[in-house]
This record gives sequence, structure tokens and C-alpha cells, in this order.
Amino acid sequence: MIIFRFLVYILLSVTVLNANENVLVTGGNGYIGLSTCRILKEKGYTPVSVDNSSNSKIPTVSWGPTENGDILDKKWLRSIFKKYKFVGIIHLAAKIYVPESTEKPLLYYKENVAGSLNVLELAKEFQIKGLVFSSTCAVYGILESDTPVLESQILSPLSPYAESKLVIERLIGFLWESDHIPSAILRYFNVSGVDSLTDNKDGHSAQLIPCLVKAFQQTPAEVQIFGTDYSTEDGTCIRDYVHVVDVAKANVKALEYILAEKKPIITNIGTGKGYTVKQIAESVSKYAKKEYKENCLPRRKGDVPIVVADIGCAKQNFDWQPENSSLESIVGSYYGVS
Ligand SMILES: NC(=O)c1ccc[n+]([C@@H]2O[C@H](COP(=O)([O-])OP(=O)(O)OC[C@H]3O[C@@H](n4cnc5c(N)ncnc54)[C@H](O)[C@@H]3O)[C@@H](O)[C@H]2O)c1
Repeated sequence: MIIFRFLVYILLSVTVLNANENVLVTGGNGYIGLSTCRILKEKGYTPVSVDNSSNSKIPTVSWGPTENGDILDKKWLRSIFKKYKFVGIIHLAAKIYVPESTEKPLLYYKENVAGSLNVLELAKEFQIKGLVFSSTCAVYGILESDTPVLESQILSPLSPYAESKLVIERLIGFLWESDHIPSAILRYFNVSGVDSLTDNKDGHSAQLIPCLVKAFQQTPAEVQIFGTDYSTEDGTCIRDYVHVVDVAKANVKALEYILAEKKPIITNIGTGKGYTVKQIAESVSKYAKKEYKENCLPRRKGDVPIVVADIGCAKQNFDWQPENSSLESIVGSYYGVS
């Protein structure tokens, strides 16, 4: 009996933690995808990146096979599932720009909703044991309070981008009820910073910090600030910035959690600490070693004063907490300092 139990234990550990198992990373050549593949490889998995290069390049440094193709092409995607027999999926491929989504809602629904449908249908067909879905804090929309946001907060997405993520969050919930596919829905806050071990040295131009890094490459440096009359310490908006390497680690920890626990989870991925736009500008100015001029503009529609994550859920359930996400680490990483 004891020997039998021991053998079962060994078998289970091999199934959960095993080295060299294939994990599908959709959008694996993108900003978060590259770091996620790197961390997967570090943990002994073989990441298989599926990417259509619509917002990335084929990496020069990779941590596993890269398959160039579109998740909207289900026949092709099925052939990838057959080829690799995945133990799990980290689904990152999506269109990601909020303003573009308001101009092209059909495109965002097609790419983010129909693309995810293909991934989920194949996850069911191939009896995948765990799926991590990259959602966003944008699903929360307008917040009633300035306190850190809990996952139980009422969801009121304000853009087609955020709505396209929420549609898939809900479908994943129904799929758990009907088919018992364990999934982790991760609501990332503002992913920033550079993972110097990957090809992506810029981050996304749409995010505040890389935008400021670019602005400080000009002379004179000018910082645009939308709204200076919010109820915050210096009147500018407060946001929660989390380093891309911490997000990649959260993806892998969440996958291991659902593979082991076989149950779904929804959790924020942020730091629990926020910075004002002016504090960010000051920090970038310090690393760029340059003074700057503020260009104060009216508030943008839909911007709320404070959006900071409550990160208790990820901490308690899969022992994740940010390790590289101090403001110095994030901003310094654009200047090769940390
Ligand atoms: N960066 C952030 O701050 C942030 C915040 C919240 C959520 N997210 C989510 O995280 C995920 C990854 O974001 P990212 O910042 O790495 O973006 P990214 O654009 O760098 O990565 C997405 C990757 O998916 C690929 N892709 C897009 N459509 C595809 C398709 N139909 N088929 C195959 N590949 C496709 C792109 O070429 C790109 O390489 C996205 O789902 C995004 O919505 C990101």
C-alpha cells in the first residue's frame, strides 16, 4: 500500500511539476510572452510560442519552438495542438490598444473574442488540464472607491478592448461549470519595465513609463499630464505599475497552481502600491538625467483618480508577490540600471 501511494505521489508530481512538458504560449513573441517563455524554460517546461507577428518580431533569442500563425486559423491551430500535446496553455495573444479598440470594435471582438474561442474549443477538444488567461484591470471600469481593488468589485468595462476580455472571462467561468477546464484569469495592472534577457527592450509605447522614456529622448523633454485636479496628493492620477518579469512569473505560478489544484481562480496581478503621474515623471527624469517641462492638459474621459490592485488573492493562493516592481527597478530597467 505504502509503495503504491509513493508511486501515485511520484506520478502526480511528474504530471504537475515535470520538466520538458510543452506549454502553449499564444502571443509568445510579444512583450509579456517573451518573458513568460523565458520563465517557463527556467522552470523546466518547453514553451511553444504561437504568434502571427502582428505586434512583434520573430525573437533572436528564444526558449522553445516558435510557430508562426494566427489563432483565428483554427485548422492550423489544431495541427499545433496535435503536434505538441500541451500540458497547459498561457493565452496572451490579443489586440491590446484601448483607443484603437474604440475606433475598431469589430476588429477587437474578432481577434480577442473569436481568437480566444478557438483556443478554448481546442483546449476542450484536447482535454487541456489548465489555462491561464491574460485579462486586465480595465474590466473594473469606473471605481467607486480609492481603496485597492478586490476581484469581487463590480465590473463595468469602458472600452471594446476591456469588454472583449470580460466576455472571455465569463465564458471561462461557464466552461468550468460545463467541462471542468481549470483556468486562471489574471487581471494585470500596468505592465511595465524591461526584461533585459529578452529581445524586447522598449516595452509598449502605449504605456506611460515607456512613453516618458521616449519623451526624455527629446530636447527639451516635455511631459504631457492629463488632469492635475484629481483628489490625489499632487492632483495627478495614481496607477499601479508591475514589472513584466513579475507578470511572467505570475503566469507560470498560476499555471502550476491550477494544474495541481484543478480548480479555477480569478486574481489581480499588480503591486498594491500606486504612483502619481508626476512621481513617475520625476523618476524618469532622474534616470534620464534631464530636466523637463510639464504640459498640463484637461482630464481624459473615463480616467479615474486611483487604480491600485489588492494582491492578497495571488499571494494567498499561489504564493506570488512582486519582486522586481519597485519604481526604481521598473524605471531603472529602461536605462540598464536594474
Ligand atoms: N501590457 C499590459 O500592460 C497589459 C495589461 C493588461 C493585460 N494585458 C494582456 O496581456 C496580453 C499580452 O500583452 P502584451 O503587452 O504582451 O502585448 P503584445 O502585443 O506585445 O503581445 C501580444 C502578442 O500576440 C500576437 N498576436 C496578436 N494577435 C494574434 C493572433 N490573432 N494570432 C497569433 N498571435 C497574435 C502579437 O503579434 C503579439 O506578439 C494581451 O492579451 C493583453 O491584453 C497586457
